Amino acid sequence: MDEGHRTIEALFDEARTFPPPPELARRAVVPTDAIYAEAEEDLDAYWSGKAERLVWRRRWDSVLDWSKAPFAKWFVGGTLNVTESCLDRHLGEHADRVAYYWEGEPGDRRTITYGELHAEVCRCANALASLGVGKGDRVAIYMGMVPELPVALLACARLGAPHVVVFGGFSADSLADRIDDAGAKLVVTCDGAWRGGAVVPLKEMADDAVARTPSVRHVVVVRRTGATVPMTPGRDVWYDEIVPDQRPERPATECDAEDLLFLLHTSGTTAKPKGIVHTCGGYLVGAAASHSMVFDLHETEDVYWCTADIGWVTGHSYVVYGPLANGATSVLYEGAPHYPDRDRFWEIVERYGVTTMYTAPTSIRTFMKWGDEHVAKHDLSSLRLLGTVGEPINPEAWMWYREVVGGGRCPIVDTWWQTETGGLMIAPLPGVTTTKPGSATLPLPGIAADVVDEEGHSVPLGQGGYLVITRPWPSMLRGIYGDDDRFVETYWRRFSVPEENRWVYFAGDGAKRDLDGYYWLLGRVDDVMNVSGHRISTLEVESALVDHPAVAEAAVIGRADAQTGQAIAAFVTLRGDREGDADLITELRDHVAAKIGKIARPASIVFTPELPKTRSGKIMRRLLRDISERRKLGDVTTLANESVVHEIAERAKGAPRAEA
Ligand code: PRX
Repeated sequence: MDEGHRTIEALFDEARTFPPPPELARRAVVPTDAIYAEAEEDLDAYWSGKAERLVWRRRWDSVLDWSKAPFAKWFVGGTLNVTESCLDRHLGEHADRVAYYWEGEPGDRRTITYGELHAEVCRCANALASLGVGKGDRVAIYMGMVPELPVALLACARLGAPHVVVFGGFSADSLADRIDDAGAKLVVTCDGAWRGGAVVPLKEMADDAVARTPSVRHVVVVRRTGATVPMTPGRDVWYDEIVPDQRPERPATECDAEDLLFLLHTSGTTAKPKGIVHTCGGYLVGAAASHSMVFDLHETEDVYWCTADIGWVTGHSYVVYGPLANGATSVLYEGAPHYPDRDRFWEIVERYGVTTMYTAPTSIRTFMKWGDEHVAKHDLSSLRLLGTVGEPINPEAWMWYREVVGGGRCPIVDTWWQTETGGLMIAPLPGVTTTKPGSATLPLPGIAADVVDEEGHSVPLGQGGYLVITRPWPSMLRGIYGDDDRFVETYWRRFSVPEENRWVYFAGDGAKRDLDGYYWLLGRVDDVMNVSGHRISTLEVESALVDHPAVAEAAVIGRADAQTGQAIAAFVTLRGDREGDADLITELRDHVAAKIGKIARPASIVFTPELPKTRSGKIMRRLLRDISERRKLGDVTTLANESVVHEIAERAKGAPRAEA
């Protein structure tokens, strides 16, 4: 098992434990640990209780149908429209409560109340309906972090039209693949997005993608940067020409609990990203309940800020659906953390009096590197709770977050979950759980996890293995869009025993449990890299590289990196007798950016006459990882071409490493 850059000493440093601060514990949403036993005693009652926090049109007949495992149905027979829980029910008394404090990167600001958000979502839904979007139609969304982004998601949900959000950092090719996979009928995009003082040309890339995707009939364009962009008559429509005049009401379309709410694509172990399927009822139950419990949300007092982009699952569940279902007041920030200065995040915390902040370890490590002085410039006394997600957090970063950002008084909730799980799975309850730096602590109430060996046997406390989830949960993925076989194969085949009706979800992560049963995540055990908290498939990058005419073959691995968790290291053999040089490295990196997106650009590329392969022709990635991390080389005896690894090792020593 690959333990990345986490040392065993760090994993088992049990000396440092942080019990819940008594003041927080006294007032916490979940004040005692009785909830774990309650959930175990009667799971149906537990999840029903969580579902009852939402607005339903028709109550469910049964909580779970697992008869077609691993295809689950939750809240069977129930109907709802998720926007009634997220918007309508907060009208009246709470219509003036702020839903989002939005801040644009250039410094412009907007405050959007629940009343205003409801009206805008209805207007947008009416506009989309006028363009032919109806229940079941898929809508692709490719935008920057502007208020119209959550509006677009919710407008789709209002119509029962599943959304397919594509992160604005993805390329035209990636967008086209996702539009195609979903068969999207309409795309919502922006003329551009602000990022680090520059404009990301979203419309240009959307045009490029839509030229290849015949399913798309219309493109709705939000004016953000004012850039001049070509508009295709009959196909493209400006948001500000079609939305503002619509009626600010729209009846919500009644949906079945198991109707598709959204698809979100994520990278797996093949070159083709998977469209993860989430449905209306169970997903919202999971997102809303976990958001309230783990972030200890006091909706009239807290100002909550999840810094994730809505293009990722964290943004779906913890910027849009969870917080809105709970009536939270959130901050939404458009741009980069270093613009115009390295204290932008802390300025935002101070300005809005943020109480609860949720961000990624890679950002925390970046802030650490930038220096405490940027944090110290601002009054952060409003903060009371801090969260992290996306990758294992090293104890040093955890401690820095706690001491420098949280002033030593804020509990840290390290939350483990995935696009597939829809909501948090392993995380502390801040009023209850004693935390340890670097551990995501324990499975949430109602969630059953385990750590197993190759054969699927639970390993004793103190040992490591594969992280699995051993029973269904409401916000679990319902499938991979259009590919049931791959769904079963990827997540359920490895450790399930169908003959015994035992279904075990394989998460793809390695984990250890300490003697207290605390979970310590060790990173992916498959060919998926985690770069700055972004999931990237080695195969996807490899196929982007071999797509370049100069490349004959490529192997890609994630090498440990102190800043980004992992960095993408590529090994490339060229066609014919072409020699690699610095220009070609730049060209290949740009090529990968164009094929997938900038986040997938290799940090280093080493040219090599051959790749290390077994006699059956399999590339030995393990050896490439050893070389990249400058470790002693592992066993090379199974190699067909042993001498090549030594040559690659020599070449890698001198290879330049770029910041991706
Ligand atoms: O490897 C785990 C890592 O991120 C993966 C899920 O990525 P994605 O679907 O993009 O969702 C990211 C945000 C939920 C996991 O398989 N991961 C996520 N959270 C943690 C983590 N690894 C360690 N600790 C975490 N808290």
